[in-house]
Order: sequence, then C-alpha cells, then structure tokens
Amino acid sequence: MKVVDVNTGRPYKVLIGSGILGEVGSLVKEVLSAKRLLIITDDIVNPLYGGIVAESLAKVGYEVEFFVIENGEQSKCLSVYGAILNYLADGNYTRKDGIVALGGGVVGDLAGFVAASYLRGIPFVQIPTTLLAQIDSSVGGKTAIDLEAGKNLVGAFWQPSLVVADVNTLSTLPHKEIENGLGELIKYACLMGGEILTLVERGFESSLERVVELAVSYKRDIVTEDERESGVRRLLNLGHTVAHGIEKLSHYTYTHGKAVACGIMAIAKAENKLGNLSDADYDRLKALYDFYGLEYAIGYSIESICEVAKVDKKAENTDINLVIMQGYGDCKVQKMALADLEGYLL
Ligand SMILES: NC(=O)c1ccc[n+]([C@@H]2O[C@H](COP(=O)([O-])OP(=O)(O)OC[C@H]3O[C@@H](n4cnc5c(N)ncnc54)[C@H](O)[C@@H]3O)[C@@H](O)[C@H]2O)c1
Repeated sequence: MKVVDVNTGRPYKVLIGSGILGEVGSLVKEVLSAKRLLIITDDIVNPLYGGIVAESLAKVGYEVEFFVIENGEQSKCLSVYGAILNYLADGNYTRKDGIVALGGGVVGDLAGFVAASYLRGIPFVQIPTTLLAQIDSSVGGKTAIDLEAGKNLVGAFWQPSLVVADVNTLSTLPHKEIENGLGELIKYACLMGGEILTLVERGFESSLERVVELAVSYKRDIVTEDERESGVRRLLNLGHTVAHGIEKLSHYTYTHGKAVACGIMAIAKAENKLGNLSDADYDRLKALYDFYGLEYAIGYSIESICEVAKVDKKAENTDINLVIMQGYGDCKVQKMALADLEGYLL
C-alpha cells in the first residue's frame, strides 16, 4: 500500500492500494473515533462496493447507515444536499459521528460539503471509486454543490480525515468514465513530466497504484502551498479555460475529461505556433492522445469558446489567468487580456 501524507491545516493520509476496500474499517479506525458513520454513495456504486465497505466498518465497531443518491451530476444540488442534512438531524447525528463518501467526484463533493456544513463541520472520509476522483477530486479539500446558475457555486474548503483509494474499483468503470479521468491524468503528465508521463505513455493501467500516487503527490504539493487557490493551485486549471467553453457549448454532453483534453491541446498548439513548445513535445502529446484514442479536435469555433470565457468572467475584469505549457513539467500561469485570447488560440 502506498501512503501520501497531506499536511494542510488538518493533516491526513491518502492510502492507495489494490484490494484494500475490505480493510477500510481498520484503516478508518486509526483516525476516526466516531460512533456512527453515514455512508453517502450512489445507486451504481452502492451495489458494487457498499456491502464490502459497510461490513468492514461494522466489523471494527462502527454503527453504519447509508444514504444512497441517484448517480450523476444532477444530484450535486440543493435539494439532495438538504435531504441529507435533514436525515442527519432527524437521526440525531452529532459531531462525534462522521461521513463516508463512497463514489466518484459527485459523491465526494456533495458528501464533503455536507460534512463541512452540518453542525459547522463533522469528520469525513473519502473512498474515491473513479479515476478522476482517485487522482484528483478526493484530495485538496474542495467541496461543493451546483446551483442552476452554474457548477460548484456553493461550497467550502474542508479536508477529509482520510482518503482510501482502492485502484481495483476502477475495473468496473465504464469506458466513458475512464476517458473522463484520462483527460485529467494527461493534464498531470503535462504539468509534471518525468515518470508519470512515461507511465501514462506506456499505458497507465499497468502501473495504476504508482500513477495515482504520483498524481496525488503532485496535487498534495500544490494544495499544501496554496490551500485556497490564490496562486500556484491555478496550475491545475491547465486546459480548463477552453474546456469550460466546450462543456457549456455542448450542453455538457462532452465529458469534463474530454473537454480538458481538447483544452490542453489548444494551448499546446498555440504555444507551438509561438515557438515556445517544441515540435517534438507537441508531436509527443498528439501521439499520447492517439494512443488512448482521445479526440482533440475542438468541434466548436474558437470565437464561440472565447465568447463563453468572456461571459464567465464578466463579473471580474478583462483579464484571465491562463495556464500555458512550454514543455513537460514546464507550465505556468500567465495573465492575458480576454480580448487577446481569440488571437492566441487561432
Ligand atoms: N473537488 C475537486 O477538487 C474536484 C476536482 C475535479 C472534479 N470535481 C467534481 O467531480 C465530479 C465528477 O466526478 P466523476 O467524474 O468521478 O463523476 P461521478 O461521480 O458522476 O462518477 C461517474 C459515474 O461513474 C459511476 N461510478 C463511480 N465509481 C464507479 C465504479 N468503480 N464502477 C462503476 N461505476 C462507477 C458513478 O455512479 C457515475 O455514474 C464533478 O461534479 C466535478 O465538479 C471536483
């Protein structure tokens, strides 16, 4: 089992292994003295992994209950959030009890925000079961729900007490969800270069634990330095300006990961044209996308994507913080006037 220590305001460990779900009870017991645990999960993950997790937690003495949500982003909303809070209050859950988030990023963000806000904060444990959640969303303490006006508009920074990532759970993920995680994984390969890039180029499935460990360690370093996203954490937004535009224009039919993949390629192309990213590095990125069969043709005009970026930023100012890539492991945040974005990307 691999262990990544995260030393944010409240330190915690990320445990990464194969087949560790059955040991989750004893792993949680080491960090949580809670009496009762509410497992928040969704209706796809529950039949797959709910039983093994509940059994393991009960074996070490926890009283366990479930709150099962419908799978999908639409559950990250005020009404489901409110229903869980009412369930906790009606059941007289106290600060001595805790929450277990078992599932992908939707469950993690929602359950994390419940934990952050119920009784002004109770402990929670993340058990991520998607590639995206294991390499990214379960670490860093960002929790949120969506409003009709947009995604992640209400939330809190609230660190988990423990993250347990069992890479074996990824074996049941549908291809679309692997692709979704891949967009973010390739982002880490671009940001970091080195070993993770080589492993992803060879096929990440053959070194899953190490790949998750490397991505999580990088995110750990970033969030430790910048817990509340005022500086270096913005690097994690590589590809996201264009990705948000594509997602909106497609009415969210593009997965986030696929949109990020397109977004990174758009930046790489722009930097290559400016002579800042070598032809060799640019071709290497294209080869990586081809290896996984990831599409990177944007399907929408640069003009329409820039329009979305302008609307998104209207309340702020006329500049954006764009993450640019000038090599593997050589990315930086650059302020750019919104008016210049279209010319840059064309
Ligand atoms: N907090 C953060 O830092 C952060 C970072 C990135 C993304 N996010 C959020 O994460 C969410 C997306 O997360 P996601 O991509 O994991 O989506 P998700 O949670 O919706 O999971 C995708 C689908 O896979 C299913 N699933 C999950 N685990 C499975 C398994 N092991 N086997 C079979 N099916 C499984 C789910 O039921 C769901 O249908 C978004 O809401 C996004 O805003 C948060």
